[in-house]
Amino acid sequence: MSTKTILSGIQPSGKLHIGNYFGAIRQHIAMQDEGDAFYFIANYHSLTSLRDGKQLYQNTIDVTLDYLALGLDPERATFFAQSDVPQVTELAWILGTLTPVSMMEKGVSYKDKIAAGLSPNIGLFTYPILQAADILIYHSNVVPVGEDQKQNIEICRDLAGKFNREYEGEYLILPEEHIVKSVAVVPGTDGRKMSKSYSNTIPIFGEGKAFKKSIMSIQTDSTALEDPKDPETDNVFALIKLFASKEEQDEIAAKYRAGGYGYGHAKKELLGFIQNYFGEALEKRKQLEKDIDYVKDVLAEGGKKARIRAEQVMTPIREVAGIVRSF
Ligand code: ADP
Ligand code: TRP
Repeated sequence: MSTKTILSGIQPSGKLHIGNYFGAIRQHIAMQDEGDAFYFIANYHSLTSLRDGKQLYQNTIDVTLDYLALGLDPERATFFAQSDVPQVTELAWILGTLTPVSMMEKGVSYKDKIAAGLSPNIGLFTYPILQAADILIYHSNVVPVGEDQKQNIEICRDLAGKFNREYEGEYLILPEEHIVKSVAVVPGTDGRKMSKSYSNTIPIFGEGKAFKKSIMSIQTDSTALEDPKDPETDNVFALIKLFASKEEQDEIAAKYRAGGYGYGHAKKELLGFIQNYFGEALEKRKQLEKDIDYVKDVLAEGGKKARIRAEQVMTPIREVAGIVRSF
């Protein structure tokens, strides 16, 4: 059996949060030994919402630091920036010529953004096409992502199928998504899905007062301190569950039910769990920050490997589509 290709991307549009970690990054790192892993920073995708060039560049470096600190091993997984593989935008254009406008109009994320009052740009509209190219250009088999990406992967499969039928050959491989059900949606401080767009995030690498504040701001109901509480309906407990062992969870749940244990106590326990869980990685990140040249090298090396693979997939596609390439 040949090794499978695992691929995923993450947008560098802000500080990574624990929803990103449990929904995506943890799986990326765990899967780096399960096949030929490719992980990239989707900087072109971020352009649809972030137009501060310095910030986008800095976020790209920061996300690389985060991944390296959290255990991404560049010897085992290919880690790179989307923009280091020009074949991706080339394929995205070709796929776009096969994409019905109606397919994009059904995009849940696109529709949500319009409903929220955002005036959409074409980049946002065609976002799933670029994402499909990201996946297809490496002949990826498995795409580990959070639940919210399911539709984009379906669109990707649809487009791969359309291309293969149109040009009568197995030029593109149809990928499968890999979604970890138990942590499919990590709640944010307001109980909605944790997301940069809702300003309800808890960062992976937080420190100091602002970090404590983000945890203390988690919304809870108004049950009095002395009264018994239901752990299963509480946001703080939902987050504690991500970090605590089964025994620790049972112990804390018992305290909730007994009464005399306030949400403030639970938040302090959560803070301790988070600091403990990411403590080692935070120290590693601080070391890596001192050697940004190394971080840039990781991206450059990853980009080189990714380009080689992408060109192997792209060459026959250009040929069959009749696209001239004179260099
Ligand atoms: P955000 O919603 O903060 O903008 P992204 O859309 O950049 O996050 O998501 C990056 C990755 O993290 C995706 O694979 C996504 O599914 C996952 N993810 C984001 N938020 C959550 C969450 N609250 N719970 C689980 N996974 C999440
Ligand atoms: N849309 C993804 C997100 O917001 C990021 C992404 C871009 C991606 N291209 C991808 C994820 C390809 C998986 C595969 O999280």
